Amino acid sequence: MVEDYELLDSGDGRKLERFGKIVLARPCSQAMWRPQLPQGEWNRATASFDREDGNNWHGRANLPKEWTIETAGVKFKLGGTDFGHLGIFPEQRAQWRWIRETCQSYRGASSPAAGTSPSPLRVLNLFAYSGGSTMAAALGGAEVCHLDASKGMVEWARDNARLNGLAERPIRWIVDDAHKFMKRELRRERRYDAIILDPPSFGRGAGGEMYKIERDLKETLGLVKDLLSDTPAFVLFSSHTPGLSVQVAENILGQLFPKAKLESGEMLLEGPRFPCPSGIYCRAVFGA
Ligand SMILES: C[S@@+](CC[C@H](N)C(=O)[O-])C[C@H]1O[C@@H](n2cnc3c(N)ncnc32)[C@H](O)[C@@H]1O
Repeated sequence: MVEDYELLDSGDGRKLERFGKIVLARPCSQAMWRPQLPQGEWNRATASFDREDGNNWHGRANLPKEWTIETAGVKFKLGGTDFGHLGIFPEQRAQWRWIRETCQSYRGASSPAAGTSPSPLRVLNLFAYSGGSTMAAALGGAEVCHLDASKGMVEWARDNARLNGLAERPIRWIVDDAHKFMKRELRRERRYDAIILDPPSFGRGAGGEMYKIERDLKETLGLVKDLLSDTPAFVLFSSHTPGLSVQVAENILGQLFPKAKLESGEMLLEGPRFPCPSGIYCRAVFGA
């Protein structure tokens, strides 16, 4: 399998990563250890980004306007944004592999040979950014509803779908505020077998609605629960919010879904030596 992403090193609050032929040095607040590689290796990065005095790229002119990589079986269009993002959060790679396998096995389990409905898993991906989880689910044979408040990010995800040969697959593309959309889906009596969500610490809905995770997560997950079908497969919650620990996520999901099996952990950028913690995930798996 092609693997174009690599964490080359981390330390002193920075990470050095390879995305195909491009090597970038960017901030990583958790990297409180010493780097392993000599400074000369870091200096050879194609470009670097810091937030020392606002958002600053150094050597941005060395970056192509956009380029493509493949990681965890998914192809991504990348580009350096003003905020230092590239259109991918590689710490989600383990989740993408899990989503694809889970959607695939659900399809297998519900094949006509098993005597049950052959309909594909219906997946809702909220706060879906450039669509890593959408691609993984669609590649696993699921029907996906992809939602993000940013029109530009939904366009980016559609480009990724084309790159992955998924343009003709059943993916609904929605630009909307997550809560507004979920309430509308409830009124329309639409339900989903699996829901994936990676809410931001702070964000804005498509109509400028403010999202604050400490204030809004309870309502978000309540709506998620109401939107699940009678035969749910899973809810996958992830977060990059500092202070939102694995235990917090387990408590919230365990309380909402007492019958589900919980699987949780840190999302990691895996490197040659020190894995870099980059948020947490918690999955509620039903019928496991
Ligand atoms: C942390 S990113 C998600 C990262 C993505 N899940 C991944 O790992 O590749 C948060 C996303 O939520 C979107 N967003 C922020 N507020 C929103 C809201 N109220 N409703 C829907 N999407 C929102 C942003 O546009 C952004 O793309």
